[in-house]
Formats: sequence, structure tokens, C-alpha cells
Amino acid sequence: MALTAIIYKSSTRELELLDQRLLPTKTDFVVCKNSTEVAEAIRGMVVRGAPAIGITAAYGLALAELGGENIQEAYERLLASRPTAVNLKWALDKVLAAADKVKASQELHEEDVEINKLLGENGANLLEGGVLTICNTGALATGGHGTALGMVRSALEKGRKVHVYACETRPYNQGARLTTWECVQDNIPCTLITDSMAGFLMKQGKVQAVIAGCDRVARNGDTANKIGTYSLAVLANYHKIPFYIGMPMSTLDMNCPSGDNIPIEERPPGELFSALPSVGVWNPAFDVTPANLITGWVSEEGVWTKDKFWI
Ligand code: MRU
Repeated sequence: MALTAIIYKSSTRELELLDQRLLPTKTDFVVCKNSTEVAEAIRGMVVRGAPAIGITAAYGLALAELGGENIQEAYERLLASRPTAVNLKWALDKVLAAADKVKASQELHEEDVEINKLLGENGANLLEGGVLTICNTGALATGGHGTALGMVRSALEKGRKVHVYACETRPYNQGARLTTWECVQDNIPCTLITDSMAGFLMKQGKVQAVIAGCDRVARNGDTANKIGTYSLAVLANYHKIPFYIGMPMSTLDMNCPSGDNIPIEERPPGELFSALPSVGVWNPAFDVTPANLITGWVSEEGVWTKDKFWI
């Protein structure tokens, strides 16, 4: 993908973030100079996707150090920006412990791309034919290449024939606005569907695998990801279609016993269309797919099956 979504400029000590709220119609960058601005960018969805959030928060802590901020306060501020993706804490802890926080953030950023390429390589052979996905798990959601969409990129590089079906991903439309945009940029064959079309598409035999990313995987394998993922897993199970999670090891939370312990972010009602202001809105940003509905977790270390987890 030509555009880089997270750019640290050492000459000006600024972090430039591709404003994902404007895609696919406009490409513009938000410039952050301190941890408060970085936390606001994460909270406000300028940058989103678990690995990308972690990398951005890491740079936020680096900016805090360069600007002479209280590091512990900056850490807490960044940590509070979004609750579900465990990569945020993972990245912040790594950078907090490092003597040179800029260097540590840059290394974490570069490593993420390498991890995604390994993950993609491990998952590539699992994909052939129609691949249904949700949300965005590509270069925009990570340091580059992507997790689940990275598997597609790697499969295509190997000459495998893959066609992406991108769920619109209501209510925020990450699939319609970001995944399809990445597919167009990289000539990845892609068709957009609404989330409610997934079952009928499967019934027609057009889906050979379902792939999704993850925001936090509990140590028993229960997996939090974008709202709608659980529904896809149930549908895949019914239609006997394999269901894979692209899981960088940084998203496995060994301190979290099961999906019941994963904090689920609830977002503002205004993100849902509601004709009547008096109608109540429930808007959880994520759901949890139980481990027993998942065929495999594709990581940089290989493809995990349920028996690898601590159930
Ligand atoms: O609310 P978002 O857009 O940050 O949610 C992102 C997702 O759910 C992604 O699918 C997930 O972070 C995996 S990213 C590779």
C-alpha cells in the first residue's frame, strides 16, 4: 500500500496519523505533538485497529518524554484512550520500560510489519476462493501488511486465487470505508456486502473461509473483535466453513481468563442511525467469539488450534 498511516518525524518531533475518519474520499493527516493529542486521536478513531493503536500509543509516550511530560500521567492517559484492544497496554509497557522511548517505538513499529508478514505467510495456504472478512485488518489497522488481510496479501503473492468479500461492518463501516479502499489500492479482488448478507452468501457456496482480526484473545481462546464477528462465527459453524483469527501474539492476554473478563467498549449512540431521538441505542464496538467456534488462530508463531490454549 502506497500510503503509510503512522509517520514519526524526528526532525519536528511530531507524529502524523492518516485520518481514517475521512477515508475513502479524502486523504489527510492529523499531527500530534504530545500524549494528550495522541490519546485524543486514538479515542476519536483517527487511528484504529488493535496493532495500530498500540504503535500510536507507543509514539505518544515517546512524545511525552521528549516534551518533558510526567511519564506516568501520559501512560495512564494513553492507556485510558480505548479499553478493548490489549495491544495498547502491551505496547505502552514495552516503551515505558525502555531507556530510549523514540527508538523503542520505532522498533516496535518495524517489528509489527515483520510480525504481520510472518503471520500472513503462516495463513496464506489456508486461503483459496471466497474469503469473507469483517472490519479492517489491513495495513491501516497495523504497522503495515495487516493481520487477517495480510493473510490475503500473502496468499495472492503466492499466486493463490482469493476473492475478498468485505462486510460493511456497521455501524462504523470500517469494511466499506477502509478494507475496500485497501483492496482497490493493491488490486485485491473484492466485493462489498452488508453484514446481514453474510449467511446468504455462505449458503450460495461463495465463502471458503472466514477471517477476522482480534483486539484481545483471552487465555482460553475466547476472542474479542469488531461487533458482528461472533455472528459470522456462528454462521460459519452452521455452514461448516473454517473460521480463522489473525492473531499477533501481542493480542493474547494471558492475564485474562476468558471472554467474560474482556472489557467491551460502548460507543456513542450517534454512530447508529436512529430516526427518533427518544429511541434508546446500544452500541458495543466489539463482541466475543467463544473459542469453540474458531478453527484456528494464525500467529507469527504458526497456526494455533484450541488445544494450544489454557482452557
Ligand atoms: O473499533 P476499531 O476500528 O478500532 O476496531 C478494529 C477491529 O476490530 C479490528 O478488526 C481489530 O482491531 C483487528 S486489527 C488487525
